[in-house]
Amino acid sequence: MSTPAPERTRPRGEDVVVVSDLHKSFGSNQVLTGIDLTIRRGEVVCVIGPSGSGKSTLLRCVNLLETPTSGSIRVQGEEVTDPDCDIDAVRRGLGMVFQQFNLFPHLTVLENCTVAQRTVLRRSAGQAREVAQRNLEKVGLGERGDAHPAQLSGGQQQRVAIARALSMEPELMLFDEPTSALDPELVGDVLAVMRQLAAEGMTMMVVTHEMAFAREVADRVVFMDGGVVVEDGHPDEVIGNPRHERTRTFLQRVLDPTHVQAGAHDAAHAARHAGDPAPGDVAETPPTPDHH
Ligand SMILES: Nc1ncnc2c1ncn2[C@@H]1O[C@H](COP(=O)(O)OP(=O)(O)OP(=O)(O)O)[C@@H](O)[C@H]1O
Ligand SMILES: [Mg+2]
Repeated sequence: MSTPAPERTRPRGEDVVVVSDLHKSFGSNQVLTGIDLTIRRGEVVCVIGPSGSGKSTLLRCVNLLETPTSGSIRVQGEEVTDPDCDIDAVRRGLGMVFQQFNLFPHLTVLENCTVAQRTVLRRSAGQAREVAQRNLEKVGLGERGDAHPAQLSGGQQQRVAIARALSMEPELMLFDEPTSALDPELVGDVLAVMRQLAAEGMTMMVVTHEMAFAREVADRVVFMDGGVVVEDGHPDEVIGNPRHERTRTFLQRVLDPTHVQAGAHDAAHAARHAGDPAPGDVAETPPTPDHH
């Protein structure tokens, strides 16, 4: 540790997530068909791939929101597919940020960031508030604690969702397309917060269509297609010089500026998500200026 760690040579620790031969089917629809993936402490792993390739399903299996059909998942050494596993204890180590921010609309920003600390971690009101405030400051919203979600822009709401997850002091943060629901001008602030988290050494698994972010911030990029990992490697390889035709085809589509992608939705994505419920979603309001 004598020299400052250049980008992507962050010290890396033990395995935080080990996915082995993971299969997941919904009825006859085989969505994941043998996923192997390891995430080590301090690593940022970006997962990319076409709509319907199983990225969210993989994340949801890691977060125990879905039960694998077969295979195993170890999170911080715990075999979560083992019936004896204390799932709640494992979940406490995981922070999750979704495309839709899922904030409670009737609670203030600060309350959104304290409620789980109080109920799950049994922190006192004062302690929870202190932790929440620290994390709101970290995401640039230290002065918006008394606001309600509807008074914030989408980008601000997503940063509150990140502060809420951080307030649980997780070992691993999982992000599922955290900027896909945002207006383009709001994407940058959220990515900046994520970049900062990465620089601080947070272990992160990020499903994203933001190729520039993946290329710059990720230690590894995982390209999924058809329920398998097609490529897993350094971003300069997977994005810069992909080995597989399927990866090349996908990247051409998302990187082509004439294609309406650039971090948003392609037609299949839009169709698949058209009917998605948006819990905690609130009426459109004009963005309020940040105070940071
Ligand atoms: N709860 C569910 N019940 C039934 N089928 C599901 C369920 N969740 C996902 N699927 C199916 O699994 C497949 C993969 O979905 P998934 O959401 O994991 O894809 P994705 O890669 O995240 O796509 P996107 O980029 O559009 O978010 C799709 O065919 C989807 O319809
Ligand atoms: Mg998805």
